[in-house]
Amino acid sequence: MNSSFASRLGIEHPLIQAPMSGSTPPALVAAVSNAGGLGSLGAGYLEPSAIIEQAAQIRALGERPYAIGLFVLPDEFDADMAAVAKAREQLDALMAREGLDVRTSLPARWAPRFSDQFAALCEARPAVAIFAFGVISPMQRRELQRRDIYVIGTATTVAEARAWADAGADAVCVQGAEAGGHRGTFLHKEEEAMIGLFALLPLAVRALQIPVIAAGGIMDGSGVLAAEVLGAAASQLGTAFLTCPECSAAEAWKRDLPHVEDHQVTTIRGFSGRAARGVRNRFVEAMPEAAQGLPYPVLNALTAPLRRAAAAAGRGDLLSEWCGQAAGLVRPQPAAELVARLMYEYRLARRTLVS
Ligand SMILES: Cc1cc2nc3c(=O)[nH]c(=O)nc-3n(C[C@H](O)[C@H](O)[C@H](O)COP(=O)(O)O)c2cc1C
Repeated sequence: MNSSFASRLGIEHPLIQAPMSGSTPPALVAAVSNAGGLGSLGAGYLEPSAIIEQAAQIRALGERPYAIGLFVLPDEFDADMAAVAKAREQLDALMAREGLDVRTSLPARWAPRFSDQFAALCEARPAVAIFAFGVISPMQRRELQRRDIYVIGTATTVAEARAWADAGADAVCVQGAEAGGHRGTFLHKEEEAMIGLFALLPLAVRALQIPVIAAGGIMDGSGVLAAEVLGAAASQLGTAFLTCPECSAAEAWKRDLPHVEDHQVTTIRGFSGRAARGVRNRFVEAMPEAAQGLPYPVLNALTAPLRRAAAAAGRGDLLSEWCGQAAGLVRPQPAAELVARLMYEYRLARRTLVS
């Protein structure tokens, strides 16, 4: 396997546990990194103080390289308050109909300020920073370079991959349409940037001079090998780690994932205001029309307490069950065992192909 990428980062396996904001607590990140992969803290929703705190917890659990993932967003957001009021009314009515004792409320801010999160990332100084939703500025690139932080930019098309290469990224993670969670798209309409990994990966490898990381639907060692054959320097897996005991995904979500069928996984805007891949559950079917018009992160902030209440009530049908198209292939097991199993399967698949 492409060992130069792994040795540059000081990791044993070119295997990245995706930053999954809200679901990647320090215990999961450290378990993956201690097992020789690259664990990643999804910090998109974290306040700067929480980023610093969780980074310290990861370091306390092992001195291995790890990544922090952020969403590149403006610091401030305007919201159409009339549209917000209408959406709140409809969301509250839906929760009442579903018998969930929770209502929307207006948050102090729609999202943490990106520039403050970025400063916290620089202070935490992980080995790797993974960015999605946009490209960082030349000044931010220099800040990371000064601290020797390796930069991975997320792209959903070749044009976005080029934009990251031009911005000085060390590597680009191409997110195929199969991928779970939010789409990283920033240059195109969401529906234009739904390229399958088998097309996007070789196109990006041909277009770029820097390492390309594959993400989307990779669930086992054969998938890791397939990505390598198509030119990937490493594989980034999200959904595969959601059923690890160290992962903080809601129990109902973890319970549902092994039973998810491919046709039940769809693109959803109604939880956050931004396209994301997950299970077409009761909430998605009953999604209020007014909510669908609100942008990210406004809708995301409004539905956050509803999703927390749904999780607490064990109502997987009402929470954002993000996952990739191959979710049915999850294998619930501790993260270190999963990393070892993925690499065992990878080596076995490689031997079988060669012989
Ligand atoms: C629950 C969940 C949350 C995610 N959150 C983030 C995130 O915060 N930052 C990010 O760069 N990617 C995020 N992703 C996308 C992953 O980086 C990756 O593209 C995706 O998981 C790959 O597809 P797979 O889930 O089929 O493995 C998330 C994915 C999932 C499933």
